[in-house]
Amino acid sequence: ENGPQSIMRAGHELAAKLYHHVLTLTEEGKAGREYIAERGFTKEQIEHFQIGFAPDRWDALTTILSKRQFPLDIMAQASLLGTRQQDGGHFDRFRQRLMFPIWDGQGNVIAFGGRTVSGEQPKYLNSSESPIFQKGRTLYGLHLARPTMRKESTAVLFEGYVDVIAAWGAGVRNGIATLGTALTEEQARLLRRNAETVILCYDSDQAGTDAAFRSAGLLEEAGCFVKVAQMPDGLDPDDYIRTYGAERFQSNVIGASLTMMAFKMRYLRQGKNLQHEADRMRYIEEVLTEISTLQRAVERDHYLRQLADEFSLSLEALKQEQIQIYRSRR
Ligand code: CTP
Ligand code: MN
Ligand code: MN
Ligand code: MN
Ligand code: MN
Repeated sequence: ENGPQSIMRAGHELAAKLYHHVLTLTEEGKAGREYIAERGFTKEQIEHFQIGFAPDRWDALTTILSKRQFPLDIMAQASLLGTRQQDGGHFDRFRQRLMFPIWDGQGNVIAFGGRTVSGEQPKYLNSSESPIFQKGRTLYGLHLARPTMRKESTAVLFEGYVDVIAAWGAGVRNGIATLGTALTEEQARLLRRNAETVILCYDSDQAGTDAAFRSAGLLEEAGCFVKVAQMPDGLDPDDYIRTYGAERFQSNVIGASLTMMAFKMRYLRQGKNLQHEADRMRYIEEVLTEISTLQRAVERDHYLRQLADEFSLSLEALKQEQIQIYRSRR
């Protein structure tokens, strides 16, 4: 097959090799290696994820592609190169960035994420969508994580590729990430085909919490059982692993992930003092409302009992209250 799409894939393959070579073996890769050292990524991580570095030049990749007779306009359509306004000439789109290859489900490189090592904006420069790359259909690391995902029937979904890489270093081999966008229905279905349980491990900030609620809805709709991992405020998984280490990440974050209902209950508790009757009543009401959205009767029963136990209420009273909630909804 010699169509534009296969040429685009071949161009990406070559670019990935060049960037990885620059990072690991050349003088030009020094800025990348220094950055990597600071972040604490190991050789194994660099190799497994084929991390690379785009040198601080306008023509490093362009020259090589051109020597190998790749049609540069097609390389520009695939967003590997930029095109000059004045004369239509081409230049390297990624410069002085740590390069993360992004693969399709078969392991072909189809795009890149490039992180600045010099504080330049944007922090991440990503490939634009192209005939071979649709963000909403791609999950970072899927082909690498798939064997473990299938074996454990569980996937861990992160916000960022560096979180996937850090988690892999900490022994979590079923991590994948979306690509700087919200989870799509299509990605949710793709996940469900490979795992039944999905553990959401988003950044511990308001954006991450909002995203977790949103993704959970989509994943449940796709038939996944969703859990949520929690970390101290302000940290993301990579920060957590660097601060607390692999073992605590495995046991206190991944291993301690909460079911969606437990996560919602914890969320609803925030800012309330359950010793105070008014807050307590409001909390019970809110939890009951959540319980009544559950599809399965056994699940509803389980959480009703839990709520009854915690606040020494009769199951009967909670069920009565719930009937009120159902009625008021109609
Ligand atoms: N992202 C992006 N463009 C940006 C910022 C973020 O595409 N300007 C995407 C990237 O895929 C990134 C993810 O959103 O991995 C999560 O963003 P953020 O939490 O800010 O980045 P981190 O993954 O924590 O990256 P780092 O640790 O390198 O700062
Ligand atoms: Mn190598
Ligand atoms: Mn974030
Ligand atoms: Mn982050
Ligand atoms: Mn981070």
